[in-house]
Amino acid sequence: MRTYLVTGGAGFIGSNFVYYMFRKYGDDIRIINVDALTYAGNLGNLSGVEDRKNYSFIKADIRDKEAIEKIFAENDIDVVVHFAAESHVDRSIVNPEVFVETNVLGTAVMLNAAKAAWENKDGSFKEGKKFLHVSTDEVYGSLSDPADYFYETTPYDPHSPYSASKASADLLVKAYVDTYHFPANITNCSNNYGPYQFPEKLIPLIINNALSGKKLPVYGDGKNVRDWLYVDDHCKGIDMVIEKGKPGEKYNIGGHNERENIQIVKTIIKTLQEILPDDDPRKANVSEDLITFVEDRKGHDRRYAIAPDKISKELGWLPDTKFEDGIRLTVKWYLEHSDWMENVTSGSYQDYYKRMYKV
Ligand code: NAD
Ligand code: DAU
Repeated sequence: MRTYLVTGGAGFIGSNFVYYMFRKYGDDIRIINVDALTYAGNLGNLSGVEDRKNYSFIKADIRDKEAIEKIFAENDIDVVVHFAAESHVDRSIVNPEVFVETNVLGTAVMLNAAKAAWENKDGSFKEGKKFLHVSTDEVYGSLSDPADYFYETTPYDPHSPYSASKASADLLVKAYVDTYHFPANITNCSNNYGPYQFPEKLIPLIINNALSGKKLPVYGDGKNVRDWLYVDDHCKGIDMVIEKGKPGEKYNIGGHNERENIQIVKTIIKTLQEILPDDDPRKANVSEDLITFVEDRKGHDRRYAIAPDKISKELGWLPDTKFEDGIRLTVKWYLEHSDWMENVTSGSYQDYYKRMYKV
């Protein structure tokens, strides 16, 4: 039975990935979820799998070399799926150090531990091992020409401390491939949306604020463009790269779904108005009048857009979820999980929100 070590499995994409993999492989795989449970990690996200015999959770920090080496010593890990990271651009602008520590040093710890566990005496690697490093399209910087896209060959040009730390981590993975022929792949994905996303990110933040009649903060002119992908389609791409990706290669993942932020906000408002029953008191709150243009994000990248040609042609990946369906599913999920939202927005989230949005 293949054993996956998933880092950051209690976060947004990590928890969706754990569900995706059990839906697809059932009892044929084992997953060990290693997560430090920062503000972004929530074990409640995994309540649907916690009783499975082939799932286990270890609370550990990827910066903790000893703890990570112990996990490799005690388990025969076949595949590392490395999600764990500080993931929010706005936080990286305020406090960059932890992004370097977790995203760069933490990745170095993970790479070193996997290399030590998987390396044969002659410097080759045991059969069937793979390190999948989950990265972002933000490493490529910002596109100005509307006809331009991010390809795997696009030079790295990160602007935020977050994207600079992810770019550094990607380059470390590449260095392991180039130097040791380490069996790794890198995936660079566009903006994900779906269940379990922490409401510091645009889509769940707008849903949450709209339901409680709070202002909907739109940075700058609202015309920055992001390329949105339903989280399950990202998980499907990661699984395909693990299964079929050529060792050492990188793959961009994105579904050609570019939208201006203001369009996203208006779509959420419309979807909420459609879905909420007339007798739901929150319905009266939901209105475009809540939209408030606020100070722009520092160094705000204007446009991201992925060219997914390589993963589509070489591995046969295509997204399954149209944006219109995905956003409806997402809005419905948040409406049906108001307890989840209440839980994650209690406590320190309130301080974060006040500090970030000066309210
Ligand atoms: P998230 O912030 O929701 O989750 C991150 C998880 O990592 C949390 O569970 C957190 O507790 C854990 N973590 C943080 N620091 C840790 C540490 N030092 N040790 C162990 N665990 C730690 O993030 P996400 O949005 O799910 O993103 C997951 C990965 O995917 C990240 O690497 C991110 O860069 C990448 N990515 C995200 C997107 C997106 O749109 N969200 C798009 C492309 C790539
Ligand atoms: O592109 C992939 C990246 O997508 C991932 O690597 C990151 O981990 C993930 O957080 C996401 O980064 P963004 O900065 O694009 O996502 P965010 O949801 O923070 O913002 C999306 C857009 O919406 C961005 O242009 C900023 C804008 N925005 C965001 C917030 C939180 C607003 O206008 N208002 C807001 O309140």
